Formats: sequence, C-alpha cells, structure tokens
Amino acid sequence: MEHLWTALRRQCEARWKEKGLTSSKFWPEFEARLDAEFLRLAELLWELYGSRPDFAFQLEVLVESIFMAFEARPEALKARDRVRSPESGWFLGSDQVGAVCYVDRFAGTFRGLEARIPYLKELGVTYLHLMPFFLAPEKESDGGYAVSSYRDTNPVLGTMADLEHLAEVLEAQGIALVADFVFNHTSDEHAWAKAAAEGQHQFKDYYWLFPDLADTKPWQANLRDIFPEIRKGSFTGRPDLGQWVWTTFNSFQWDLNYQNPAVFAAMAGEMISLANRGISILRLDAVAFVWKKLGTNCENLPEAHTIIRAFQTVARLACPSLLFKSEAIVHPDDIAKYIDLRECQLSYNPLLMAELWEASATKETKLLALSMAKRHALPAGTAWINYVRCHDDIGWTFADEDAAEVGIRGWDHRQFLNRFYTGEFQGTFSRGVSFQYNPLNGDRRICGSAASLAGIEKARVEGLGRDLDTAVNRLLLLHTIAYAAGGIPLLYLGDELAVENRYEYQDDPAQASDSRWVHRPLWSDELVARRHDKTTVNARVFEGLCRLARLRAHQPVFGVQGLNVLATPFPSILAFFKLQAASRVTLLGNFAEVSVTLDPATVQHVLGGRSGRDLLTERPVLVDEPLALEPCGVALVLGRD
Ligand code: GLC
Ligand code: GLC
Repeated sequence: MEHLWTALRRQCEARWKEKGLTSSKFWPEFEARLDAEFLRLAELLWELYGSRPDFAFQLEVLVESIFMAFEARPEALKARDRVRSPESGWFLGSDQVGAVCYVDRFAGTFRGLEARIPYLKELGVTYLHLMPFFLAPEKESDGGYAVSSYRDTNPVLGTMADLEHLAEVLEAQGIALVADFVFNHTSDEHAWAKAAAEGQHQFKDYYWLFPDLADTKPWQANLRDIFPEIRKGSFTGRPDLGQWVWTTFNSFQWDLNYQNPAVFAAMAGEMISLANRGISILRLDAVAFVWKKLGTNCENLPEAHTIIRAFQTVARLACPSLLFKSEAIVHPDDIAKYIDLRECQLSYNPLLMAELWEASATKETKLLALSMAKRHALPAGTAWINYVRCHDDIGWTFADEDAAEVGIRGWDHRQFLNRFYTGEFQGTFSRGVSFQYNPLNGDRRICGSAASLAGIEKARVEGLGRDLDTAVNRLLLLHTIAYAAGGIPLLYLGDELAVENRYEYQDDPAQASDSRWVHRPLWSDELVARRHDKTTVNARVFEGLCRLARLRAHQPVFGVQGLNVLATPFPSILAFFKLQAASRVTLLGNFAEVSVTLDPATVQHVLGGRSGRDLLTERPVLVDEPLALEPCGVALVLGRD
C-alpha cells in the first residue's frame, strides 16, 4: 500500500501548501520528521479508521494540528527533543531514581514543591511523577483521575504557569517531570461531556452513550467491575440526559469513544499541550480499557496498542523526546505487550510489586523467583518502573499458570494473601485494609501503606522491638530489590519515612468509601525532622533509601536491565545477579523472619566463585565462608574479576 500513502502525502502536502504551512520557518524540521513517520502514522490510523470515507481528510487536518502544536513548542524543549530521543536511552542509566507524590499532600502547591527539591535530591530523585493536578470536580475526583480540563490546573495547586516554572526548575536540577495522560475517560464536568449532555451531536460521539439500559446489556455481559463496592456494572444511568453512559471506573468518569477519530485527534492535541509544558514522561493511565469491542471483555484489545502507537507517532512528530509509561495492572502476558520503543518505553512492574508482598507473606520466594526468571527480560531500550507501593490498591496479578508451576493454586492463594494483609490471618505482621470486595466472585484487593503492610505499625503499637527490627528490614529488603532489579525504582513518597496508615480518611465523606486514601500520606514536618536521627525507625528507612540511591549512582551495573535468578537450597532466599563489564553484583534477600546462614558451597555458587564486598555494609564476603543474613536481611555483593 506504500504508493497509496505516498500519493496521500502528496495530496495532503498540496493542501498544507495552500494553507501556507510549508512556508513556516519551522516546516523543514517538521518535514524531515514527516519523512520518517508519515507512513507509520497513516498505517496505524488506517487500522483504526480506514473504513471511513473521510479518512484522508482526517489525516490531513490531524497532521496540520500536530504541526501547529510543534510550532508552539518552546525552543528549549525543541532543543531537548534533538538530544533526548527514546532511542538515546537517557532513562536507562543506573543513576535514575523515581518518586511520586500528590502535589497538595506533599507540598501544598507547585511553588511549595520547588522548596522541596533539596529533600528530593537527598533521596537521589531524577524522575518526579506528580499525581493528577488538573482541574477536576470539587467533591469527588478519584484522586484527580477525573479530569475536567487537560489545559487547566486545580486552582488550589497554582496555575499552569507555576507548573511550567516547576518543570524548568526541576529540569535544571536534573529531575524529569512526569505527569498523567488520563486518556481513557474525562470527568463529567469536562467541556466535551457538558456539550454531550446538552445534546450536541458532535460531542455525544465523544463518549459511549446509550438511550436504553437494554442497549448496554450485550456489552455489560463480558465486563468486570473495577469498583464493585461503589457500584455494579460499567454503565451509569443519567435520567437528566435520558442516557446511559459508559463509565468503567466511577460514575463521574466518562469513557471516551476512540472509534471516533475526532477523539483521537482531540486527545493528541491535549497530549502535545502537556508535553509543551515541559513534561518529559507521560504516564498513560488505564491503557487496557481504551478500545471497546462487542463480545469481548474490552480490555487489552489489539486496537488499544494501535492507539498508543499512533499517539507515540504523533509525539515523534511534535515532541519526540516524550516518553510513555504504561499503567496496565493486568495479566503479565498482557502487560508485556505494551512495552516497546515505539509504544510505551516504560511500564509499571505490578508483578514484581505484588510478588514482593507475596513472598513476604509466605516467606518463600519460589513464585517471585520463577516470575523474575521468566518475565523480567524486556526489549532492548525499554525499562521497568519497579515499585513497592503506589497510590492504588494491591491486586494479586500473578499468572495462575506461573503459580501452578510451583504448586500454588491461584485463587486460594489470593484469598490467603488478602486475609494475611488485612490482618485477618493469625500470626500476620500486617495491618492493611480490604478494598472492593466483590461478593459475586469473592475477589478483593488490599490497601495500606508500605510500613503498615510490612509490619512496622503492628510491631510499634504492640511494642515488640525484635519484630520492629524485622519489619524495618523487610521494608528495606523490598526496596532494595526494587532498586536493584533493573529499570527505574519508583519511590512512593511517604514510604521513605515509613509513614503508617492514615485512618482519618474515614472521617472525610469524599474519601470514606475509597480505602485507597488510607495510604495517601500527608507531608509531616515532624517525621521529616527525624530523618537523620538514627534512633528512629524513620531514619533507618530514610537513610537506607538514600544509600540505595547513592549505590545506583556509583555502580553502573544497576542500570543493566537483565538479571539472572539463581536457585539455592533455602526456600526463603531470593538470589539473582547482574553483570556489566567486570562488575558482577549479586543480591541475596532473606524473606524469613529468622536469620539464615548460607553454607560456603552455596555462597560459592551464588557469587559465581568471586569473593567481593557487601555494598550495604562495606563488609567483605568470601566464597569459602558462610554468609549469615538477618531476619528479612539483604546483601548486595559486588564481586570483581
Ligand atoms: C488508574 C489509576 C487509578 C484510577 C484509575 C481510573 O488505575 O491509577 O487511581 O482510579 O486509573 O483513572
Ligand atoms: C486499574 C486496575 C485495578 C486497579 C484500579 C484502580 O484499572 O486494573 O487493578 O485497582 O485501576 O483501583
């Protein structure tokens, strides 16, 4: 079909010329990019919209609007584009450390956040994700994920100009700004939703509206409920409009209709406008849900990938240094499909996250080790975002097939993990909260801060000093693995100070029905003041994380994505190593609550015959000597040839 696209491009170019685009001084740079990308863009959009008679026209005006957004892109960002392509791999270095926070809860405002930069620098942060800061409904906004305008900020946080200023200041400090691209849905207060509600046909086509409940039934038959405690089904009746609206998440989050090319074009415009504020990485929210097809569960459909690839191609034209990170909390096979240099260069690693907690509960690493061996590898040039906690609940998204391989029954195991982490299981160390119990299938997920889930809260309240030491070790063990596994570690701010659950959310009517608020912390001057007081738990965790960031910055081997999992005779031990040039770093993590001593033969085996030193303690580790690991202890052994 190539000749067809060439003809189409010629036809478009004639129109762009007529409209005076090609005489812009910015045209030559853009034209060179078109040479590289036009064919791909046309092909991707053809997959989605090829059956429409106005396809050529849609493409022509889309490219025209991309060009105008490119023209408007500030020169400093264009300069960034020239040196920081996704292929340059700038984000793969071992010095990268991510952090994420809510602007209001961490610093009040964008300006307030500038004052917190030295704190972030202590933690070695080079990547800062600000939770959604856009204009959103005042009452409930799903923590900002119901966006009323992608071009306006929540006024409480400051203005877009403040955000742009923050982006510049961060950039000067070597910190890339990361923001959400909430492209599956808008809030019901977005101008498009309001126009649709008024009955404007053009905008009714932006969403999935059905006049009768009966029309939704064939779709509903295959869908799962995301928030079953809040509502049943994926559709919201709006008697005021005489319509049923597709709302995968909350009733006030209206799913966009990507079968309409105008939606793709409009969101492409919003995407570039975000990039033009100075945002370097977009977190693509809820990627799994963006394409719907009757007779399917409407998750992870091939067209969802096509849409993201098409957005990526738009970015290559207007703002080619922009990276995408996918947020797909789905089966590991499906997660992997979003990761590609031409799709999402980065992806949350929810499997590692969930299995770190799984291994903590069972004190056995067999499932974690299997998944790491089988699923950690990624295409060259892409990277995992490894995290221990985030603003969302924890779902046990390991593959049942993987579990079966190591003799675990998936469903039963999830029930156990839920009981363990909500504190229902006898002997648990954890204090978590149940999230979204679904009586129809018995599913639920769990919430809780890392410190509370890891046992710090329980040990502190019950005054058990030894358990407290183990819990602190556990929190550091999980983070050490996230910092060492390969990819960018992402710290959920608050966890560096071992912040515990915040039960006060129950008193706030806007939060009470969503237990995720239990682990969304507020900045605390009191805790921050303790961060170097070695007698406190807070300082042990804080300094432990600072040390990990320093190790990353000094040891390029941590930037290596690949890892090799090692078997040992000890069920509670996770062992893997990474190689780069002459450096070999081996992680040995003990998930048991008792100390474990590795015999010299095992030490010899896991260290590949090379003695070295533990980077965490600076102590030598010799291959002909036993190695003791504390309860939930970890060693990072650097060996040299
Ligand atoms: C993502 C967000 C989550 C939000 C949902 C809907 O999963 O992480 O917080 O509820 O998308 O936008
Ligand atoms: C996503 C995930 C789900 C997560 C939710 C937010 O859709 O699939 O596991 O819990 O968003 O709570």
